[in-house]
Amino acid sequence: MDINYTEKVREIFSRREAPPLCCVHSYGCQQNVNDGERLTGMLCSMGCGVTDDMTCADVIILNTCAVRENAELKVYGNIGELKRLKEQKPHMVIGVCGCMAQEEKTAEKIKKSYRHVDMVFGTFATAELPRLLYEVLTERKFVADTAERENECPEGLPMVRSCSYKAGVAVMYGCNNFCSYCIVPYVKGRERSRKPENIIEEVKELVNNGCREIMLLGQNVNSYGKGLDEKINFPELLRRIDSIDGDFRIRFMSPHPKDATKELFDVMAESKKICRTIHLPLQSGSDRILREMNRQYTAEKYMDIVSYARKKMPGLSITTDIIVGFPNETYEDFTCTLDIMRAVKYDNIFSFIYSPRTGTKAAEIADMTPAEDKSRWFRELLAVQREISDEHYKRFMGRELTVLFDSVYKEEFISGKSDEFIITLVKGDPSLIGSMRKVRVTKTHNWAVEGEIIG
Ligand code: 5AD
Ligand code: SF4
Repeated sequence: MDINYTEKVREIFSRREAPPLCCVHSYGCQQNVNDGERLTGMLCSMGCGVTDDMTCADVIILNTCAVRENAELKVYGNIGELKRLKEQKPHMVIGVCGCMAQEEKTAEKIKKSYRHVDMVFGTFATAELPRLLYEVLTERKFVADTAERENECPEGLPMVRSCSYKAGVAVMYGCNNFCSYCIVPYVKGRERSRKPENIIEEVKELVNNGCREIMLLGQNVNSYGKGLDEKINFPELLRRIDSIDGDFRIRFMSPHPKDATKELFDVMAESKKICRTIHLPLQSGSDRILREMNRQYTAEKYMDIVSYARKKMPGLSITTDIIVGFPNETYEDFTCTLDIMRAVKYDNIFSFIYSPRTGTKAAEIADMTPAEDKSRWFRELLAVQREISDEHYKRFMGRELTVLFDSVYKEEFISGKSDEFIITLVKGDPSLIGSMRKVRVTKTHNWAVEGEIIG
């Protein structure tokens, strides 16, 4: 018989004077944030309240990212800082989960060197949280669950959303691509897609509750549908979500260029709700490096995709990810990346210096490219992008953008994102946050535009 650990933990917590507070801190990508909202939901169903302040929390979960070494170092730094807190509040439970926790070396290292941590559980063990917490609470021992499981998509687990007006909705989990630099397929497992009816139901519920922006999430969203009984692909899923009634906009992240079909851009162009923006990770503009990365497209194929997309949607805004300094990259390879950047005119780039990840193919390559060269090229890349944005953002001058406001910027401004995913600043009141308004652009920078609300 299945033991209901959620009930058991709830019972333990109910004996406390006040309900315990939980704090889930997610690092890294949007998918992780989404997983974190599920962990918070599960903790709430076990009787916890929620706090953003770790010093007040009784259960702290660090939901980690393993994509680059910097991310891991940050997590270890934060785990170290929690030691003092635990000394002051010995009953506190500290858990480490997510991508880093799925790596074999992490659980060992934490058990040995960070003895104030109570539990470590990998990406395959999210649904095990109630059992793990029960074991910690009843036996006060260190527990770990980093087993790889034949993973289904998590369905029916509660979620507590961190924002009411924009939300991420996972459409698929895992990745089958094995780009040679990337740890994700090893820590998140093989691709699996959620049933369309479950996705649509989640979107409808969010929209009925006033959500204005739905971000469809997946490691490789446009390979959605493989392995499902129903024959469906990502463009068809988009069509169905686009036809849901309500005043909301749709975005998705991230598609892989090798799976970016004409049908995808046709659906985007026909749709009313899908934003005119796409994040299309380039990684490198050099065919030799792309081959070594196992990206399965060439620079020419990438440019063909961009040309088709812009033919269908002339104003399309494009953003990208770029890795500088892949093993044995030369300056000539690097300049091919700059060429593509200049040809595409990205509105924003997310750029990273290559970070070797143990277990990946690229980490085995003897790398002769000096670190100083990589840093210098990285700075050059940022300078080139600044020039491009300086020029390219001017196209918004005088134009009317639809903006969903989400934060205060430097006290004076309210900041939001336009349909093109351009940061847009207006002078106004924080009560604007969560609302969607038309803005006329009066000034452009290389990272944002400023404007006035109209109407
Ligand atoms: N080193 C540097 N950047 C990486 N990324 C993924 N793996 C690595 C790595 N080992 C970047 C890619 C990816 C983004 C999410 O992180 O650009 O698209
Ligand atoms: Fe990593 Fe490539 Fe999969 Fe993206 S597509 S998660 S870069 S392996």
